[in-house]
Amino acid sequence: MNRRQSQSFLGTPATAPGPQGPDMLRDFLLIRSNPLAFLEKSWRTYGDIVQFPIPKPPTYLVNSPAGVRQVLVSHGRNYGKSTIQYRALSLVTGEGLLTADNDNWRKRRPMIQPAFHQALFAELSTITQGVAESLAIEWEKVPAGAVCDVDQFMLTAALDVVGQFLFGTDLSSNAHVITEATLEALEVVIARARVPIAPPGWVPTANNRKLNRSVAALDAAVEAMVSGQRLRRVIRNQVDGEIENPRNMIELLSSTTDPLGKTLTMHEIRDEIVTFIVAGHETVASALSWSWAILADNPGLQDQLAAEAQQAEESDNGASVDSLPLTRAFFEEVLRVYPPAWLITRKALGPDTIDGHEIPAGALIILSPALLHQHPDVWPNANKFDAKRFLREYSRESYIPFGAGLRQCIGKDFAYIEGVLLLAQLTRQFAVRYPAGARMPVGEPMVTIRPRGGVRVLISARAH
Ligand code: HEM
Repeated sequence: MNRRQSQSFLGTPATAPGPQGPDMLRDFLLIRSNPLAFLEKSWRTYGDIVQFPIPKPPTYLVNSPAGVRQVLVSHGRNYGKSTIQYRALSLVTGEGLLTADNDNWRKRRPMIQPAFHQALFAELSTITQGVAESLAIEWEKVPAGAVCDVDQFMLTAALDVVGQFLFGTDLSSNAHVITEATLEALEVVIARARVPIAPPGWVPTANNRKLNRSVAALDAAVEAMVSGQRLRRVIRNQVDGEIENPRNMIELLSSTTDPLGKTLTMHEIRDEIVTFIVAGHETVASALSWSWAILADNPGLQDQLAAEAQQAEESDNGASVDSLPLTRAFFEEVLRVYPPAWLITRKALGPDTIDGHEIPAGALIILSPALLHQHPDVWPNANKFDAKRFLREYSRESYIPFGAGLRQCIGKDFAYIEGVLLLAQLTRQFAVRYPAGARMPVGEPMVTIRPRGGVRVLISARAH
């Protein structure tokens, strides 16, 4: 292993080994086309803590199991989210939970947490099952021998689940305007935030205009939707004469209060709604698409999942993740090998020492669940996909598809319910396989790791 350590980068002392300027230039194309492959190369070449030759801010990759825990958990308060990645995202999501820096976040998370209370999970299961049923109807219509991109189906399904959960049955035109404007604005942001080690410079004005247009559309649509729902709730309450439980996430966010009784403002609600759309659909869709990509190569595993799902359907209508242990373990392994959120960044608020390396205040810290999940110290046969790995006893310390510590994903249970129930419903009714000559797609690390070219498979109904 090459552990070359340089002296300094434009006055910033080097405190960990890493590539030099010419090495970065040589890898320029790799950095742009596949930043994850570049980070992996850096880790395998220089070790668990790598410093890149960037003076402002000093930039480190941390991939030791202890170092990652230190940044996210034990010293979590020393690391904030004011990084290029989250600043770019906040152009769309505002100060929502995902991008809020620590102080704002501390006030906000306890207010939002009740919206993810277990009491809502029954509703989520019902929504997911409804979406799976609609998807099954679509899949039944696919002509025999036609090749379909299941990635597109998964994106639509995940957006549908999150949309129904947020907006309830109120699928008025506003709901569509909100989701479409969010996705449009996100496109611009992706271009800006692709890689923290290669920050894009000038953003074309056309893109800026597009961003402003979609953010304005978003603001107006959310405001109309929230006001409408609030009004309807007041009318319902007046008619029924009593305060009824909120029916969906918007109603919940509108009525949530902090310990002093303060409710979220319209602007804060808007930021959270957009955050849930952004954080809550492509991530789940990506995990589901990789699930199909793996299953298409494993007919035996598909049969096992189908049998488990059939049994669960007969015993409890297939509505509970607990009755689907193999499907859940499989989905967990998908999240280990293809963690959708492959990049997590932090800014060091004060100095720290990680694995003996001094980290200056202001440093940018890059973590990657995709790389930690390959670490040989914690994962036996890390590069082997083992669908039953998570049926065995496992230390979860270095399993971070949802992050860890204070800022762990608030939608983790949501994602398991949605992912596992959708997979179970569909594997029970359908089998997928690659057409002759086709292979597993390769990963493309965008905001999430996407299957390049989609997941193009043949779908056939199972005989029961
Ligand atoms: C497989 C699906 C998902 C994956 C892999 C995932 C991954 C993550 C990760 C890694 C973080 C932490 C980021 C960091 O520490 O910088 C995070 C945070 C977050 N996620 Fe998820 N997520 C998923 C699904 C969801 C869903 C379904 C929702 C909402 C409906 C959601 C909402 C959020 C929010 C609001 C945060 C910020 C939490 C906070 O800082 O308090 N995520 N997610």
